[in-house]
Amino acid sequence: MLTEAYEVPFEARVYQSYLSGIKNHWRTSLYQQVVKEAQSLQAEDIEKIESSMLLSPSYQLYAWQERMTQQFKYIGRWGIKTILEQSRKELIDILQTADQIATDRLKLNPECALPDYVGGIDVHQVPSGLGRDALNTWLMVWYQKGLTFAGGNPNALVEWYADLLVNLAKDANCEVKTVLDMGCTLGRSTMSIKKKMPSANVFGCDVCEAPLRYGHLLAQENGVDITLCQENAEKLTFGDETFDMVASHWLFHELPPDAVVNVIHEAARVLKPGGIFAIYDMCKVPGGTIGEWLHKGMAIRNNEPYALPLVHTDLAKIMTDAGFSNIQFKTTSPDWPQETEPTEIMKNRYMFMSLYSGVIQKNI
Ligand SMILES: C[S@@+](CC[C@H](N)C(=O)[O-])C[C@H]1O[C@@H](n2cnc3c(N)ncnc32)[C@H](O)[C@@H]1O
Repeated sequence: MLTEAYEVPFEARVYQSYLSGIKNHWRTSLYQQVVKEAQSLQAEDIEKIESSMLLSPSYQLYAWQERMTQQFKYIGRWGIKTILEQSRKELIDILQTADQIATDRLKLNPECALPDYVGGIDVHQVPSGLGRDALNTWLMVWYQKGLTFAGGNPNALVEWYADLLVNLAKDANCEVKTVLDMGCTLGRSTMSIKKKMPSANVFGCDVCEAPLRYGHLLAQENGVDITLCQENAEKLTFGDETFDMVASHWLFHELPPDAVVNVIHEAARVLKPGGIFAIYDMCKVPGGTIGEWLHKGMAIRNNEPYALPLVHTDLAKIMTDAGFSNIQFKTTSPDWPQETEPTEIMKNRYMFMSLYSGVIQKNI
């Protein structure tokens, strides 16, 4: 299979697994020590916590590791980007074959420009960004198997997401025949939706071309019948009232506030009356001021500048203004299955996922 034609060398895998060990220490005992120290301050705002904690060796190490383990994954002698560079031509050639098979299932659009918040930021510290260097698609492929920032098993999260969507449809009594998964990257979330809703016509869209090429190859190799399209979710080329469900898995924390509004309005436009919209992302943070302080630190140290504004955005209001009703919010992820908002900070440092959903009314 072309998607598995490349194997990361043994030495690089050893190095990456060493980093994974550091990351596990970071997300458990180091994080717990930092939380304990921050709690003892009894400070009421994140600036006060930050200025005091800057003097703490535990926090200095925590912040350093948060930023540097991410960089070490990519750069240096055994960094994945360094390793992939050695096979650049072969790997790009594989992606180039994607538009020669099942051509009706991959819709690329050279006119689809990268917005600045994608093209101008090395999100997750990926060197030269996901959209500007096609080679980084392979980096994402590795990233999703290996040392993920989110921690845990990345497939557990997409499967959890797809199950949530199935339940939303059941609760709303909506027969879902067409779905759009916005910000689909390699099509992982899109493929999970198709597996859970086999009779639906499932589309994934992303602004970046190269990951869509990989996702298309992967879907075709595995006989998963989805359509991947190069589209900006702020200005989709789909007609009005095309889909029964529009959903997104980890798109919104990458969007600046004006794009958040545009994407929600586009979802409303392309949904059929009675159709369902879902946002699955880090929409809220647990653990009060300390939780927010750590979330802000993550946003800065992981090059995700819009992750902090998102938790202060009134998504329910924006959805109401766009015509959605029956808006529901729940906090739910494999790491926090209870569906309630914890008042206490999480025991270990995992991303805290939540779901906003609504039904579009239009003229029914
Ligand atoms: C964190 S990834 C999503 C992961 C993916 N849904 C999964 O489950 O594996 C965010 C993706 O959103 C894409 N993206 C960001 N802004 C976008 C926009 N305006 N329209 C479409 N895609 C966008 C990025 O290119 C990136 O691939």
